[in-house]
Amino acid sequence: MQIFGVDIGGSGIKGAPVDLDRGDLAQERCKVLTPHPATPDGVADGVKQVIDHFGWTGPVGLTFPGVVTGGATVRTAANVDRSWVDTDARALFGSRLGGLPVTVVNDADAAGVAEMQFGAGRGRGGTVILLTFGTGIGSAVFADGVLVPNTELGHLELGGHDAEHKASSKAKEDHDLSWEQWARRVQKYLAHVEMLFSPEVFIIGGGVSRKADKFLHHIEGIKADIVPAQLQNNAGIVGAAMRAAQLS
Ligand code: BGC
Repeated sequence: MQIFGVDIGGSGIKGAPVDLDRGDLAQERCKVLTPHPATPDGVADGVKQVIDHFGWTGPVGLTFPGVVTGGATVRTAANVDRSWVDTDARALFGSRLGGLPVTVVNDADAAGVAEMQFGAGRGRGGTVILLTFGTGIGSAVFADGVLVPNTELGHLELGGHDAEHKASSKAKEDHDLSWEQWARRVQKYLAHVEMLFSPEVFIIGGGVSRKADKFLHHIEGIKADIVPAQLQNNAGIVGAAMRAAQLS
């Protein structure tokens, strides 16, 4: 079975039909640039371009970088245009796509369900926490394989600051941190999350998962296993399609 997956990120809107049995893209993905400011209308236009590129007419799952309730309504917008808050994104995308059935989910939750079934979380029970390090920090928490949606652990307070302002990959760039300096911040953050949840495994996702050899060895004193995500760039697209199948 195939569902179309779209990953809405700060720099690009990427999508492709997803083969749900294999957990992989069924065709090469298409990417358009995210408009700035990333308003609901501008993003909906970008999504339409991606879907039209394939002439797709079936169900669509989309990620969004904020809290999304009921597969539909955006509740927070830490790193995108504030006008998203309280938008019915399912209705917005659905009408822009000519009435196609649409599901919208948090980006880290989508990446998490893809990793649990097809990547680094395969076969892992107990508490598993996937953290995506990018513009912000996203989180997906699983208890024996079941997702607890919209956990938002990136906004835990760390030393008086929003954790994602200190330990995201954007923070590494903004503050010109070396891999070692940044890893120390990530270590503090993981220790804090571990104190609260005692997970068996942390899966490290986002673009940095490809550079695990540069920083993972600097992270010490965490009891949980720490493993890089495996699906990398496609986790969001695959997970968006999987969540759409789960929620519909
Ligand atoms: C948002 C999360 C999102 C994460 C990664 C955070 O700022 O609050 O909902 O998952 O960024 O995009």
